[in-house]
Amino acid sequence: MTVHFIGAGPGAADLITLRGRDLIAACPICLYAGSLVPEALLAHCPPGARIVNTAPLSLDEIIAEIKSAHAAGRDVARLHSGDLSVWSAMGEQLRRLRAEGIPFDITPGVPAFAAAAAALESELTLPGVAQSLVLTRTSGRASAMPAGEALENFAATGATLAIHLSVHVLEDVVARLTPAYGADCPVAVVWRATWPDQRIVRATLGTVEAATGGERGRTALILVGPALDSREFSESCLYAGDYDRRFRPVGTSPRFPEGRE
Ligand SMILES: C[S@@+](CC[C@H](N)C(=O)[O-])C[C@H]1O[C@@H](n2cnc3c(N)ncnc32)[C@H](O)[C@@H]1O
Repeated sequence: MTVHFIGAGPGAADLITLRGRDLIAACPICLYAGSLVPEALLAHCPPGARIVNTAPLSLDEIIAEIKSAHAAGRDVARLHSGDLSVWSAMGEQLRRLRAEGIPFDITPGVPAFAAAAAALESELTLPGVAQSLVLTRTSGRASAMPAGEALENFAATGATLAIHLSVHVLEDVVARLTPAYGADCPVAVVWRATWPDQRIVRATLGTVEAATGGERGRTALILVGPALDSREFSESCLYAGDYDRRFRPVGTSPRFPEGRE
């Protein structure tokens, strides 16, 4: 018996890996985080599967479901939105499963930031503009931010920021980022990327509050940084015609250190 943690993707039901889909189809029990996991994915469950929305359950109740599946020798598909490596609450479940000696494995999914970037038709790391992406959030009722992870600290780097779980405090985000990025810095807010009701607002730090027209909702990403609206950036050396590299040696005496492109 194994608990298969599966990244369910950002919303569109076909943005799940083939491995994730096949695991759902093979498991007689499916536990899914109903607040963000698309119900259409449940169509992959086998006939007669036990399907439980864990949104209203406590951690103890979720673990009780898993323990009873373990006792019966029945595999479990455990679905969380996006990818499991960020804000999935998987860590606390894994700790309990390790303590109980219950086997598990993990199948990654498409994270919301990648879905939002695709919707914006943007590369978030442009040469010479931004080479780092910070996945972050602001403090919530259930989770305080660790000391040092203040938005102002990330803003000081000039990196592209993908701010989760924070659209309801957009005004605060703007106030904290403007001193470092400037009011002209591009911002995009993407609500429910890849869902049928996806919505995008492009603006600047100075205009985003008015541009969103007071709409806050819950499921949105705020992306901030010059890479979001930059036409002035260098081309990557990697594909330059005269750039000597391991996979495309050029020149009279090509040199390319082992292990580097
Ligand atoms: C609990 S976190 C889950 C993150 C998820 N594990 C991931 O890999 O993206 C939920 C937050 O992710 C963001 N989010 C999740 N799905 C989204 C989507 N389809 N469009 C925009 N933002 C999304 C929102 O900021 C939302 O408040």
